[in-house]
Amino acid sequence: MCGIVGIAGAHPVAERLLTGLKRLEYRGYDSAGVATLAEGRIDRRRASGKLSALAARVAETPLSGTTGIGHTRWATHGAPTELNAHPHATERVAVVHNGIIENYRTLLADLAGDGYLPASQTDSEVVALLVTRAMDLGLSAEEAVESTLGKLKGAYALVFLFEAQDKLLIAARHGSPLAIGHGDGEMFVGSDALALSPFTERVTYLEDGDWAVLGPEGARLHAKSGPVTRPLHQIVSTQTTADKGPFRHFMLKEIHEQPEGLSRVIGTILDRPSMSLLPPPALPFRFSDLKQVSIVGCGTAYLAGATAKYWFERFARLPVQVEIASEMRYREPPLDPGELALFISQSGETADTLAALRYCRAADQHVIAVVNVPQSSIAREADVALPLMCGPEIGVASTKAFTAQLTVLLGLALQAARDRGTIEQERLDSLLEALCRLPAAISATLELDDELKGVSRVLARARNVLFLGRGLHYPIALEGALKLKEISYIHAEGYAAGELKHGPIALVEEAVPVVVLAPSDELSEKTFSNMQEVAARGAPVILVTDEAGRSAGTALGAHILTLPTTDPALSPIISAVAVQLLAYHTATQLGADVDQPRNLAKSVTVE
Ligand code: F6R
Repeated sequence: MCGIVGIAGAHPVAERLLTGLKRLEYRGYDSAGVATLAEGRIDRRRASGKLSALAARVAETPLSGTTGIGHTRWATHGAPTELNAHPHATERVAVVHNGIIENYRTLLADLAGDGYLPASQTDSEVVALLVTRAMDLGLSAEEAVESTLGKLKGAYALVFLFEAQDKLLIAARHGSPLAIGHGDGEMFVGSDALALSPFTERVTYLEDGDWAVLGPEGARLHAKSGPVTRPLHQIVSTQTTADKGPFRHFMLKEIHEQPEGLSRVIGTILDRPSMSLLPPPALPFRFSDLKQVSIVGCGTAYLAGATAKYWFERFARLPVQVEIASEMRYREPPLDPGELALFISQSGETADTLAALRYCRAADQHVIAVVNVPQSSIAREADVALPLMCGPEIGVASTKAFTAQLTVLLGLALQAARDRGTIEQERLDSLLEALCRLPAAISATLELDDELKGVSRVLARARNVLFLGRGLHYPIALEGALKLKEISYIHAEGYAAGELKHGPIALVEEAVPVVVLAPSDELSEKTFSNMQEVAARGAPVILVTDEAGRSAGTALGAHILTLPTTDPALSPIISAVAVQLLAYHTATQLGADVDQPRNLAKSVTVE
């Protein structure tokens, strides 16, 4: 993770570096730093904590200079202290790093032999020391960087600033994303196009193995094989990130954006006038030729895949293997060539998901990505990228991207079902109608906000919470627990309701609220029985259901949340919104920083 920005400029850079970093704070926010070249010498300011601490430091002791680099950190090696904050610098060079240098101990041991000793506990500082030693031996900045890159193992995006070399930056990418921005007489570099959007709309993405020399007149790019050119993209700049509108948090704003975002993405799935499925984008395979599907992701994105498994298997009669990317990439499962692998990722940069994608491609799978960032690495490496169309997601806890992922995956499962002839037209029509009404149902769910807030008081008092669900609601129970723990820091677990008596029921007691997700469907009666079992053991029950399911909770004195009635196949998308709001209100009652929860980052570019 970590966010990087650099400017080889014609105008003062310190404030602009902070502006770029503000847009990258979602990638890490435990410490930050900037370095500039002031009269030929490297000058830097660093601070632990949020970017605001660094901004205060810079305001107190301003930094001059027109060339500089900045970094916002998500700590991997070494605590989030000022000493460990980037840029790491010697007199000759300063560097910012995103990724992990896996062989840093060996490299440091070698450097120590020559008297080059680190000041921090990070893996990153080794890069500054290697370049410094190379320059001390007489190499130019470019030569020193090139020789250093050859020694590094692991993943990195790096940007270097050099003593006495005004208007020069060198950037390198291996595994972690990096984009070059083209200005007028200035060049920019950043972890993503979002960071560069205040400065320029013209962007070039570095490929793995590329490194670039940036001066005010342009950038020279090198691949491992030698000089290279990469396409220039025009990006659409957006103000969305800077603006919470009337909402207290980005997370709440993003929860409320769901009806509109889903309406947009539904427009890519079905033709509303004729109420028919739109032809899918040119897919390099036919669903009728497939024998199995792998769906791969991490965290919430994985849980979108786990939900979609039910749709693909039920409607398209296609067996689905849902994979946690970090497990799949090293387990290396056997895959029959010519099958389909679906990769789910909001950021499109998650390192494990990208590695699993590469594994599947090497195993001759057709690769589809479901992503929110169209120019991301995962989108670019897939055969086909299906967009989520929900706009930038800034809150670290994924909300609108999750429901958009679910909707895109449902659309794909219905395409597959139609092409394989496994769904009757009448059933397909009723599902499409329900899909059309989904944004309205989500709006109606948002209107339950006050009720959800009231019920969340029960959760805010608890130290442990269980979420139960069956069938399509099992992954949503997992998602409810994940959302609650990541933003409120309350321990929460999700279970398949039928698994309860195989162990977790031992946890049930009066102090452990149980959230039961059971909108009415062919399995809800069974879940209600499990709800009885926890209520009989004194647990406070919160039942998330619909009108038809209400009565099951009234006799128990459960807190009942009545969601809009929909086709049971779509009800997980609606329940997802309810668990998001439950988590949000619980966390805000506890005074937690919901947009930037501790220890987390939005884009997980390290494994
Ligand atoms: C949880 C959350 C994470 C992400 C996961 C994958 O709220 O946001 O679990 O879902 O880190 O990220 P992407 O979707 O960017 O690959």
